[in-house]
Amino acid sequence: MRTETPPLIHLADYRPSDHLIERVDLDVRLDPHRTRITAVLSLRPNPAGEAGAPLRLDGDDLRLVALDLDGAPLAPGSFTAGPQGLEIAEPPQRPFTLTIVTEVDPTANTKLMGLYRSGGVYCTQCEADGFRRITYFLDRPDVLSVYTTRIEADAAEAPVLLGNGDPVEGGPVPGTDRHYAVWHDPHPKPAYLFALVGGRLDPVETTFRTLEGRDVRVAVHVEPGKAERAAYALDAVIRSMRWDEEAFGRAYDLAVFNVVAVSDFNMGAMENKGLNIFNDKYVLASPETATDADYAAIEAIIAHEYFHNWSGNRVTCRDWFQLCLKEGLTVFRDQEFSSDMRSRAVHRIAEVRALRARQFPEDAGPLRHPVRPTAYAEINNFYTATVYEKGAEIVRMLKTLLGPEAFRAGMDRYYADNDGRAATVEDFLKAFEAESGRDLSAFAQWYARPGTPQLTASGRHDATARTYDLTLAQSLDDGEPLVIPVALGLVGAGGALDGATCPEVRDGVYVLAAREATLRFSEVPEPPVPSLLRGFSAPVRLQADLSEGDHLRLLAHDTDPFNRWQAAQSVAHALMRGGSASAAFAEALGRLLDREGARDPAFAALALAIPSEGEVANEMRAEVDPDAIHAARSALRRELGLALRPRLDALWDALAEAPGVPYSPDAAAAGRRALRNAALDLVAAGDPQTGAARAAAHFEAATNMTDRLAALGTLALIPGEAREAAFAAFAERYAEEPLVLDKWFAVQAMIPEDGTLARIARLTAHPAFALTNPNRVRALIGSFAFGNPTQFARPDGAGFALVADTVRALDSTNPQVAAKLLTAFGSWRRLKKTRACKAEEILKQIKTIPGLSRDVADIAARSLA
Ligand code: PHE
Ligand code: ZN
Repeated sequence: MRTETPPLIHLADYRPSDHLIERVDLDVRLDPHRTRITAVLSLRPNPAGEAGAPLRLDGDDLRLVALDLDGAPLAPGSFTAGPQGLEIAEPPQRPFTLTIVTEVDPTANTKLMGLYRSGGVYCTQCEADGFRRITYFLDRPDVLSVYTTRIEADAAEAPVLLGNGDPVEGGPVPGTDRHYAVWHDPHPKPAYLFALVGGRLDPVETTFRTLEGRDVRVAVHVEPGKAERAAYALDAVIRSMRWDEEAFGRAYDLAVFNVVAVSDFNMGAMENKGLNIFNDKYVLASPETATDADYAAIEAIIAHEYFHNWSGNRVTCRDWFQLCLKEGLTVFRDQEFSSDMRSRAVHRIAEVRALRARQFPEDAGPLRHPVRPTAYAEINNFYTATVYEKGAEIVRMLKTLLGPEAFRAGMDRYYADNDGRAATVEDFLKAFEAESGRDLSAFAQWYARPGTPQLTASGRHDATARTYDLTLAQSLDDGEPLVIPVALGLVGAGGALDGATCPEVRDGVYVLAAREATLRFSEVPEPPVPSLLRGFSAPVRLQADLSEGDHLRLLAHDTDPFNRWQAAQSVAHALMRGGSASAAFAEALGRLLDREGARDPAFAALALAIPSEGEVANEMRAEVDPDAIHAARSALRRELGLALRPRLDALWDALAEAPGVPYSPDAAAAGRRALRNAALDLVAAGDPQTGAARAAAHFEAATNMTDRLAALGTLALIPGEAREAAFAAFAERYAEEPLVLDKWFAVQAMIPEDGTLARIARLTAHPAFALTNPNRVRALIGSFAFGNPTQFARPDGAGFALVADTVRALDSTNPQVAAKLLTAFGSWRRLKKTRACKAEEILKQIKTIPGLSRDVADIAARSLA
């Protein structure tokens, strides 16, 4: 029985590998239950390692069939081998060849790590440590090898055979029903980037010419019959390729680029060299089955995985502590791409909302960790919002500090100096120091210090001297102050105070490097309101003590769209905290709708969306009572819905799409739908009866999934027959569409009513639900755990118990997905007493389950620490 915490691996213990693997020649004979892998490894001692050290190859759940060294079987006693590893005590101290034959059962692989089958398609997932489930290997990212892979399969079962790199040859295997393909990847890579695919798949294809004039065959492979739904993803690949050339000067480096969509996948997607494998949720889209948000997510994730080809693959990570080196940087790159494809301001707001919703609570709870962790028990538990999202914010701050030219020069140098190598965060920063001449040692603290810094601001205007003194102070812990870029400006009663100057503010940015500093602005004729942290220039919590009137001035006049949006959010937060109504806020929102409703509907829709219950909980200093938050938020929505009613009705009419206009997922059309649906939702919040009728009609008349799902979401909050009829109609219409039914599961799981538990119990018995499919689990149980605060944290503990039962059921089959689900308990300590006690009790029970996976044991232990 495991009751103690799993052992830790420490960054400080890093040592280079004693052995290197130069070349890997694989022969994989695919079979549903007995896939045989012959691996020929060309090894040599690592001059940077310890001479004469034993060779310890990683393994996980492997069966060794044969083992040769330089063509001859190894003497028994000269090696030991088991499912979890292979050791040769005295390997030759010269280059040698190891031939390893293993056998695995892809059908029985429910962990979805290593080689497995998804809907009959053979595929692999090797990050972070799945390759050791295929063959014995030095499964660490600083061992880079050149791979040649021969894949063989039944020609009818797997007509398509794909590998890393470029295709070399292929054809039938004479005298059998089998065929084969050989792929060669000339770029040295760590084992986590290995992939192969075999199955029945339909491609959509095109050709892309790189800036170097090379032609690349680009293909997206999907389940037969679904090729039409892959067109948008293919287009996103092409736009990504072009953008990385234009924005970063990075061209693709192979003759083919393949994307494959599979339906069983633990994460979003994977950047395997030349062969990106995707959760099909992030590939398949049609107007009938995907929302505008789905299209945007597909575009972003296609870009993300493609961009990894340079930030991750050409330059990889020395060890898993450096995960943010590829993930934070690549998220920053995909965010920039999406901003260029869509509206920068709208996209920035979406990024910050995601950061605050997922990363801030993580950073404030027991699962907090530095962007570069210093110790881990299970690396799969560190694919977190902190590594990804806060990691991206650090790169964004770097760009703000250095300016676009020095930033780009630093990126170029980073690639040039580290190409083909496994790098560290230090290597990354060194490239920017070299190009900018700046010392980034203080800035580097962002990678090392967990927690969200607080930034406090207060100001004083001197009417006679026409000066304004702004004091900024930071606090995080007892350590040295951080380097915080604060983009700012002053706003007067009639708009920006352009004449005001402060010598320490350059290009609109002040760099706060001390614990506290006071800036003096001159030529300030009237008392200003400071607009701070424009564009959310640093991932901090801002405490500025502005009045409602101050915020409303920013909402009306700030030149920075992010802070205009933020002003509305701040007022909404204050109103919900104080439980008071504000006619002035409704009027200000009304004026915003008049001004921006037609000009920038996507922005107007975001301004109308008041902070979620999770965001409100985040901002609270007191113990969190989800029911009180829900009540306050519902009251504010009701009030706004009533006060803005005439305008919301007018928008509803004005934004209706003219009949016959075909659906387009572009940002402008999506923005109009977003505002129209936000208007509907707020009308329903003020007047449920009218809202239910209008939403039911909208649901009926919808010509695309965005509108249909928005209508369903509005109806979901209004108990009654109309809602249940819509749920039934939706289920019938999409009975054969698992990805669409996921939306149906999710909407129902998030209903903030007592009856939701019973509803979920019914839904787990629905024929479309399956515990074996991560998307289904996330849609139903994940949406409940992460998106239904009142029901998940019920005072009777029944919500926690429901999620805990799922974690328990999944632990032995798919520990990665189980552990992710358990992180929903991460903020338990902030809850009010009875709820916190229930959560603690359940975490303690989970922790003592005999034979618990390391993944779940680690999350349970850290959550309780
Ligand atoms: N590296 C993947 C990404 O692009 C995420 C991932 C991690 C996928 C581990 C599978 C397993 O972010
Ligand atoms: Zn990534």
